[in-house]
Amino acid sequence: MSSNYDNNGQYTRHSILRYEKIFGEGFVSSGGVKITQSFCDRLDLPKGAKVLDIGSGLGGAAFMLADQCGAEVHGVDLAGEMITIAQERAEKQAYPVTFALGDIRELSFEEGTFDLIWSRDALLHIPEKRELFEKVLTWLKPGGEVMFSDYSQAPNPKTDGFKEYVKTSGYHLLDPETYGGILREVGFVNVLVEDWTPSFIEVLRDEKQSLVDKKEIFLKDFTEEDLDYLGKRWEQKIQYCLDGDMRVGLWQAFKAK
Ligand SMILES: C[S@@+](CC[C@H](N)C(=O)[O-])C[C@H]1O[C@@H](n2cnc3c(N)ncnc32)[C@H](O)[C@@H]1O
Repeated sequence: MSSNYDNNGQYTRHSILRYEKIFGEGFVSSGGVKITQSFCDRLDLPKGAKVLDIGSGLGGAAFMLADQCGAEVHGVDLAGEMITIAQERAEKQAYPVTFALGDIRELSFEEGTFDLIWSRDALLHIPEKRELFEKVLTWLKPGGEVMFSDYSQAPNPKTDGFKEYVKTSGYHLLDPETYGGILREVGFVNVLVEDWTPSFIEVLRDEKQSLVDKKEIFLKDFTEEDLDYLGKRWEQKIQYCLDGDMRVGLWQAFKAK
């Protein structure tokens, strides 16, 4: 099965593997393994927990959740190349992890299937957040939880540069509290909204520096143009955060028992 979705070139095989060089192996999301680990540390999952990863990408988080929590993870992603690479990697591992191509907006799962519905930096692609959270609530077991990180924004972003970045990237961003409000309105309880933009700025600086440090290795597979693209994009994100327009958050919320 294949899908042509690549978000206007953002998720072609070349772009994915280029991103992986800066985010770290298995990840196309901020802070890669380190930040994902800090989110995993907050989880208290039962052994053999059933997990759905929305926008699972290359599967880095899915493999971590299986490894650390003994979870069975099902990843769904809309980009054919992401799924192809993730499946190639899953075949080389013994974890109970599966990946399927699909648009989460069009999928359905049985009520009460999952202990955890997880997502890292994928919901930014989805405008219909309320509808999605309504379905997510249904798919969770009583007492189950949703945990996701996502790009976010100030209630009223100021700079034209940031507005253009959001538009050309095809992102649909909310401010952190609006996001949390939707979770409460659809029926989640114990909703946690955490703005971790200051740490994100540090993460971006580290990732950018690490790319410069590993320039020789990067240039074995990619070009100076690729290096320049990533450097500029990371600089932009740092500036948008410093301007107060861009934010990054973590949300955690539970289905009542
Ligand atoms: C920035 S990447 C993050 C990938 C992964 N979560 C990670 O942490 O490395 C966002 C992912 O969301 C996927 N995505 C976007 N819209 C989606 C949708 N409607 N359904 C499923 N996946 C989607 C993209 O294809 C992409 O792989």
